[in-house]
Amino acid sequence: MSELGSESSGQSELTVDELTVRFGAHTAVDGVSLTVSAGSVLGLAGESGSGKSTIARAIVGMAPISSGSIRYDGAQLRTPDRRIQLVFQDPAAALDPRRSIGSSIAEGLRAKRTARRARVRELLELVHIDPARANLMPRAFSGGQLQRVCIARALAAEPAFLIADEITSALDVSVQGAVLNVLREIQRETGIGILFISHNLAVLRYLADSMAVLRAGKLVEQGETENLLGAPEHEYTKQLIDAVPGQE
Ligand SMILES: Nc1ncnc2c1ncn2[C@@H]1O[C@H](COP(=O)(O)OP(=O)(O)OP(=O)(O)O)[C@@H](O)[C@H]1O
Ligand SMILES: [Mg+2]
Repeated sequence: MSELGSESSGQSELTVDELTVRFGAHTAVDGVSLTVSAGSVLGLAGESGSGKSTIARAIVGMAPISSGSIRYDGAQLRTPDRRIQLVFQDPAAALDPRRSIGSSIAEGLRAKRTARRARVRELLELVHIDPARANLMPRAFSGGQLQRVCIARALAAEPAFLIADEITSALDVSVQGAVLNVLREIQRETGIGILFISHNLAVLRYLADSMAVLRAGKLVEQGETENLLGAPEHEYTKQLIDAVPGQE
């Protein structure tokens, strides 16, 4: 774990400052400011189309920034930056089907060639996948296992921050828990900072220390998860909470 935690052990901060992203005449993200600190999980909620993925993409340089900035410890971020890794919704689409999972993980490694195999084993163990299966192709794994492979691949780059964009949304409910548990375990052990995007408030309650609610590209509310979900101030947040089936 020492290697993984090495860069996130300080008080690193990933800051989104007054970010605006426009696609033609449409403003997808409108003046959003967020801070993800090392060692904590910031949840980002909001209905479909509210701009969550666009923020994630802007952070890693995959969406055009119309105004505002992304900073890492105060300095303007230049993308791509190894220290920030993104995990996507669909693990099967994110992995090369003709490449063993071990090889996909090794791709992101910074370690020297001789240390690679050992490091791949270590990363697989970290996400609770039998390292003896490193040479198998993605098709030999379930969706939940593949998502854990994607997390291992992201960690191979020794990032200080992870952006997880709806990483359990495409998975069967029965395997979502294992993915979330692995993520929480890694976060606690390494002190990595996570921006966790989800429309699922129950998942955010489980994982996020604090959270922000986005509506039509604008931030409507931000605060400690328990407070925000327990005593929402904004009408839109209340609506989101009320929309969750089986919750009071
Ligand atoms: N490349 C693009 N070109 C044009 N419009 C885009 C592009 N990417 C996103 N948008 C628009 O920006 C808005 C925000 O989209 P975004 O994908 O960020 O929403 P989201 O909150 O992630 O939604 P979901 O919960 O469905 O994933 C939407 O209106 C979308 O159509
Ligand atoms: Mg999205």
